[in-house]
Amino acid sequence: MQGSRRILVTSALPYANGPIHIGHLVEYIQVDIWVRFQKMRGHECYFVCADDAHGTPIMLRAKAEGINPQALIDRVHAEHLSDFQGFNIEFDNYYSTHSDENREISAQIYTALKDAGHIKRETISQLYDPQEKMFLPDRFVKGTCPNCKSPDQYGDNCDVCGATYAPTDLIDPLSVVSGVTPQERDSEQLFFKLSDFEAFLRDWLDAGHTQSEIANKQKELFEQGLFDWDISRNAPYWGFEIPGEKDKYFYVWMDAPIGYLASFKNLCDRTKGLEFDDFFAKDSECELVHFIGKDIARFHTLFWPATLYGAKLRTPSNVWCHGFLTVDGQKMSKSKGTFIMARTFLDNLNPEQLRYYFAAKLDDSIDDLDLNLEDFQARINSDLVGKLVNIASRCAGFIVKQFGGKLSDSLPDEVLFAKFTEASDSLSSAYENRQYSRAMREIMALADQANQYVDAAAPWVLIKDETRRDEVQSICTQGLNMFRVLMTYIKPVLPATAEQAEAFLNVPALKWGDSQKALLRHKINKFTALMTRVETEKIEKMIEDSKEGDPRMASANGVANSGPLAEDPIGETISFDDFSKIDLRVAKIIDAQAVEGADKLLQLTLDIGGEQRNVFSGIKSAYKPEDLVGKHTVMVANLAPRKMRFGVSEGMVLSAGPGGKDIYVLSTDEGATAGMRVT
Ligand code: MSP
Ligand code: ZN
Repeated sequence: MQGSRRILVTSALPYANGPIHIGHLVEYIQVDIWVRFQKMRGHECYFVCADDAHGTPIMLRAKAEGINPQALIDRVHAEHLSDFQGFNIEFDNYYSTHSDENREISAQIYTALKDAGHIKRETISQLYDPQEKMFLPDRFVKGTCPNCKSPDQYGDNCDVCGATYAPTDLIDPLSVVSGVTPQERDSEQLFFKLSDFEAFLRDWLDAGHTQSEIANKQKELFEQGLFDWDISRNAPYWGFEIPGEKDKYFYVWMDAPIGYLASFKNLCDRTKGLEFDDFFAKDSECELVHFIGKDIARFHTLFWPATLYGAKLRTPSNVWCHGFLTVDGQKMSKSKGTFIMARTFLDNLNPEQLRYYFAAKLDDSIDDLDLNLEDFQARINSDLVGKLVNIASRCAGFIVKQFGGKLSDSLPDEVLFAKFTEASDSLSSAYENRQYSRAMREIMALADQANQYVDAAAPWVLIKDETRRDEVQSICTQGLNMFRVLMTYIKPVLPATAEQAEAFLNVPALKWGDSQKALLRHKINKFTALMTRVETEKIEKMIEDSKEGDPRMASANGVANSGPLAEDPIGETISFDDFSKIDLRVAKIIDAQAVEGADKLLQLTLDIGGEQRNVFSGIKSAYKPEDLVGKHTVMVANLAPRKMRFGVSEGMVLSAGPGGKDIYVLSTDEGATAGMRVT
C-alpha cells in the first residue's frame, strides 16, 4: 500500500428548500463509498458537506410557508441530516453556508479577488417586480420565447426550441412571484473577471483534474471568449452582504462552494491538530476532491478553480462528475410515483439495498443511470440475499450449534482462499477510480465461487456422518473466511451489514488489510439474519406513498393548501390587525373542473353572493370535481388576484391536511349562505 494520503472530500451542497430525494442520493452514496474506502485503507480522509442555504428560491419558499428564512433552513438542515443518517452517509461535518465561517471566508476571498483587480463594475438592465419590490432571477420570469414564440417559457432558456436568452428578451414577460408585468431597471452589479483566468483554466482543464468530456465541454466556451460572471444581487436577497457595498449581496453561487471551506474550517476548529491551512494554502500537498452532478460542472470547473486561484489559494485536485438518475427509464415523476424522497424509501425499504444497487450501477463516467425497480428487486434478492449473505447463513449455524462457535485451525482449500485475498488490488483500484460497478461484479463472482464450494462440500450431508465432523468444521470455517473477506471488500458499500457481520464474527471493525489473513481458532457469536429479501409489496407501497406527493413539495405548484405542516413549528406571528384584514366569506362551489396540464389543480367557480370568482386550488388529489359542486366552503375573498400558468386566480379556498388524499376543504354548517362574512 502507498503511504498515507491526506484527503479532503466534498459532495455538492444540497439546497435548503426541499427534501433529499433518491436522485440526490446517487451522489451522496457515491461519495460516502469513496470516503469509507479511503478510511478503511488507513488514509487521513475528511468528508464535509453543508446545506446550501442562500438565494431567492429559499427566500420565497420561506415566505410561502409564512416563516422566516432562518426557520426554514434550520428545519431543512435537521431533515437533511436525518435523511443522510438513515442512509449511513457519514459526514465528518455537515454544516450550513449560512454560517459565520462562511461569511468570513467569503469576504476574504472576495476582498483578495478585488485587491488583485479581478472584480469590475458594470451597469446592467434587469427585470424588476414592482409589486414585490425585488429584482427577478431568470427562473422567476416567464413569457413567450423570443425565438419560436412558444408561450410560458422561463427567462433563461426555452424548453421548446432550446434557445437561450436574457429574461429581458422575453415577449410579454410576467413575474412568477406576483404575476405582474416586470419593469426593466438599470443597476450596477459586480462581476468576477473570469476572462483574466483563461490561460490558467486551459491548463487546469487539460491536466486531468476532471473527466475529459467535462473538460472538453468547458473548453468550447473559450471559442466564444470567456464571459465575466455577475456575482452580486440587489436587496432584498437572502445571503451575505458584500463588504463595502450597500444593499448588495453575494449571488448564492459565489458563497456556496466557499461553503466547502467553511464547513472544513468549522471541523478544524473542533478537531485538535487539524489545520485549515495545511489543506488550503497555495502550496498544499493535501488532496481536495469534489464530487458533483454534471449539471453543476461549469460552476466547479471554471468559476471555482478560477476563484481559488485568483484568491491565491490551492485549486481542486479533482472535480469528479456523475450522471443523473432516471427511474424505470424516465425522469423521476411525481405523478408516476417515481419522485421518491429519501424518507419514503427509508419508510419502506432497507437503505443498504439502495447503496448496493447504485454501487452496482455507478462508474467513473458521466452517463445517466437508471433505477429499474424490477431489476432492483431481482439484483438485491439474487446478489445480496441469495449469494453474499447466503454463504454465512449456510456455514455459521453448524459452527455455532455443532462446534461451540469455534472455527477450525486451518483452511481446507488454501488455493481457493488465495483467490479471495488476491482480489484486493483489483478491487482497491476499482474503488479508487470510482468503478464501483466493476468492484461489485468481481465481488459477486467470488461469492458465486464460495457458494459453489459450499454446494460441492455439502456440510449438511457430512454432518450426518459422525466420523466426518472435523471436515464439516473446516468446510464451514473456509466458507466463513471467504465470507469475511468479501464483507471486508464490500464494507464501503454496506457499512451497516458489515457491522452486523463483525458482531457475529466477533471481530473488531474490518479494515482493508483484514482481507489478507484468515480467521482461525476463533470463537464466533450466534448468527443473525443480515438481510431479508425485497418484497414486491414494499416497492409498490413506496411508489404509492410517493404518488401522494410530499406535502412539502406542494407549493411547487403555487397552490393554496400548502401552509405549514402539522408538525411544523408555528412561524412568525401576525397581529390581530393583520388577521382582521383577511376577508373570509362563505362561498358556494357552483362549478369545478380539472385543469389541463396541471396534476394537482382544480378550477373552481365560486359564488359569494351575487359575485362569482375563479379560483385555482391544489386539491385534485383529494376531490373529484363533481363531488364538490354544490358544497359550501370558506374562501379568502380579498386576496390580490394572482396570474398563474392557467389563468388568474381570484382568491383562495381554505383547506387543511398533509396532502394527497388527505386534503379537506373546509365546509360550513347548514344554514350558511354564499357571501356570508366568516367571523
Ligand atoms: N446547491 C447546489 C450545489 C452547490 S455546491 C457548491 C445544487 N443543489 S441540488 O440540491 O440541486 O443538488 C445537489 C447535488 O445532487 C448536485 O450535485 C446534483 O447534481 C445532484 N442531483 C440532484 N438531482 C439528481 C439526480 N436526479 N440524479 C443524480 N444527481 C442529482 O445543485
Ligand atoms: Zn423557443
